[in-house]
Amino acid sequence: MKRILLFIIILLPLGFSLYELFILENVKDPIKYIYTFTGVSATVILFASISISLIKKWINLLKYRRMIGLFGFFYAFLHFLNFYILDAELDFSFVVKETLDKPFIYLGMLAFFILIFMASTSTKTLFRKYNKYHKLVYFALILITIHFVMAQKSLTIVQLIYILLILFISYFKLLQQIIKNNIPNNITR
Ligand code: HEM
Repeated sequence: MKRILLFIIILLPLGFSLYELFILENVKDPIKYIYTFTGVSATVILFASISISLIKKWINLLKYRRMIGLFGFFYAFLHFLNFYILDAELDFSFVVKETLDKPFIYLGMLAFFILIFMASTSTKTLFRKYNKYHKLVYFALILITIHFVMAQKSLTIVQLIYILLILFISYFKLLQQIIKNNIPNNITR
């Protein structure tokens, strides 16, 4: 039941955007619109996936962490497809030029490569082998936050709230790590 509910919640942004794009047809700049809904959805879902251990006392979603992370990757992939197919019109040299010319694209691309690595090593067997590298998600989230801030021409109140929320989650995650590292092994076992 929880799984189905999560599925519905996570796919809501996609459903709502498709409705606006194809049924209501009220979107003036579809490329910008798709950048925003895919970028923000991926960011929110990825931050939600690292917050699961913070809220496990109240709601235990630990067994859905992989699924939630993969949905985050799914939205990031749509974000990339928007760039490659609609914005760059499949021109690979444009992709390379934009990536090298614009630091915020470069950071987004780097974060995207980390997400590809994490998604492709998230199967049971590969995860056992590569799980220590999955801490790279924190690095990717830092890159994503900088990318997100740099992509703004001006900051609105909603974007400021996102950024405050991101800092809030990061603070508690850091605190959790510090506490975990300071507890002697014989107590944690
Ligand atoms: C694959 C490499 C990436 C490229 C080429 C890329 C490209 C872009 C571009 C061009 C924009 C600006 C859109 C505009 O307002 O005109 C943007 C914004 C954004 N991107 Fe990315 N991005 C990449 C990776 C990512 C990743 C991995 C994430 C998150 C997981 C992400 C999240 C965002 C967010 C949240 C925004 C701001 C959306 C807004 O407020 O309008 N991007 N990206």
